[in-house]
Amino acid sequence: MRGLLEVDALTRRYGSLVALDRIDLRIGEGERHAVIGPNGAGKTTLLDLVAGVSRPNGGRIRFAGRDVTRLGPARRARLGVGRIHQRPAVWPSLSTLDNIAVAGARHRGGYRRTLPEARKLLSSLAIPDVTAARLSHGQRRQLEIAMALAGRPRLLLLDEPAAGLSAVEFSQLSAVLSELPRTVTVLLVEHRLDLVYALADRVTVLRDGQYVATGTPDEIRASSTVQSAYAARQPEAVI
Ligand SMILES: Nc1ncnc2c1ncn2[C@@H]1O[C@H](COP(=O)(O)OP(=O)(O)O)[C@@H](O)[C@H]1O
Ligand SMILES: [Mg+2]
Repeated sequence: MRGLLEVDALTRRYGSLVALDRIDLRIGEGERHAVIGPNGAGKTTLLDLVAGVSRPNGGRIRFAGRDVTRLGPARRARLGVGRIHQRPAVWPSLSTLDNIAVAGARHRGGYRRTLPEARKLLSSLAIPDVTAARLSHGQRRQLEIAMALAGRPRLLLLDEPAAGLSAVEFSQLSAVLSELPRTVTVLLVEHRLDLVYALADRVTVLRDGQYVATGTPDEIRASSTVQSAYAARQPEAVI
């Protein structure tokens, strides 16, 4: 399969630790692809490498048919790689609407030009237009997703978007993610497997930097290899 994102033999070391060991990944245009695995599996490392904020020790990353392995994060963002961090990053003194408009303007030139689209994005969320400092953690999470969407990414990288959300915030996030247009391809790292199984077309499992399996949610749920990969590191995790 020719993918929007093609990762070949990607390797990242920190000293003697191999955080990611020759990982291959193919993500098709419009696909929702989840990466799961116990803590320390290399999930955030993978997202950092795809976003370009970290450089691999080996391997190659192709995005939209182009080798981006040596491009920095700003160039990749301009090519259409959008990112949500493990902790929401918003401008606390700006309003919700202005956060979205300014984020869009940074990518597409001009606050005024992005304002109508920012209003549309805001109306699709369950959050008020107030100073962002007043938003709850879950509302900031939604805002950060809208900010990334304002840059019209082709690929959206999400690192544990459900972490720390209340039950209500979790269901709002699930709705926002499931309503994303298929023009946006999604690479989701998430511990909440109910969200992963509801959203993902395919799931890749990593453990200790190693590839374990890729499959549909049903295949992954049924896989004894995956069960034991989790059980070895996180006995409490139920798939
Ligand atoms: N900047 C860093 N320096 C040293 N070790 C790191 C660094 N970032 C991650 N690691 C290590 O790499 C491994 C993978 O980490 P990470 O990608 O954050 O895992 P995950 O997101 O799956 O929990 C872990 O053992 C972690 O301690
Ligand atoms: Mg992580």
